[in-house]
Amino acid sequence: MFERILIGVDGSEESLRAVRVAADLARAVQSKSLRFVVAFDPIPAYWAVPNLDNVIEARRAEAEAILKRALAEVGNVPSEIQRDLLEGSPAESIINIAKTWNSSLIVMGSRGQSGIAELVLGSTSHKVVSHAPCPVLIVR
Ligand SMILES: Nc1ncnc2c1ncn2[C@@H]1O[C@H](COP(=O)(O)OP(=O)(O)OP(=O)(O)O)[C@@H](O)[C@H]1O
Ligand SMILES: [Mg+2]
Repeated sequence: MFERILIGVDGSEESLRAVRVAADLARAVQSKSLRFVVAFDPIPAYWAVPNLDNVIEARRAEAEAILKRALAEVGNVPSEIQRDLLEGSPAESIINIAKTWNSSLIVMGSRGQSGIAELVLGSTSHKVVSHAPCPVLIVR
């Protein structure tokens, strides 16, 4: 059960809680794989930014740092660890990987970085819950 667990991380405290829950679950059910996804905003093609490569590189570096912080929460797990840094919509990235990878569970925070206090679910978790091809565990 829950052999392949997909986890979306955006650096928020809730997403780090989701990582800890996913790691606990992976230990409990001996999951085969944990796959971490960090999506970062694409740069629109019409942006005439000087040093565009530097902007993209800065976003990628930020995503790398988020991933590193998430991996530090995992501890010992019996699972293989996979990671994806993707440019694009976080919800679409998570749903696409869940479909192609045939994930058995998606774990994510109820809210994330932009954290509007009144919202029960952020837009990423709302979209994933609405369109996921597998069960979704929302951590709060
Ligand atoms: N860029 C991302 N890459 C991977 N996972 C993400 C990303 N953004 C959000 N998530 C996942 O979705 C969860 C909920 O975040 P979400 O973006 O829905 O809320 P929010 O940032 O508070 O609100 P919103 O983005 O709608 O303004 C996060 O805890 C994280 O697990
Ligand atoms: Mg967000």
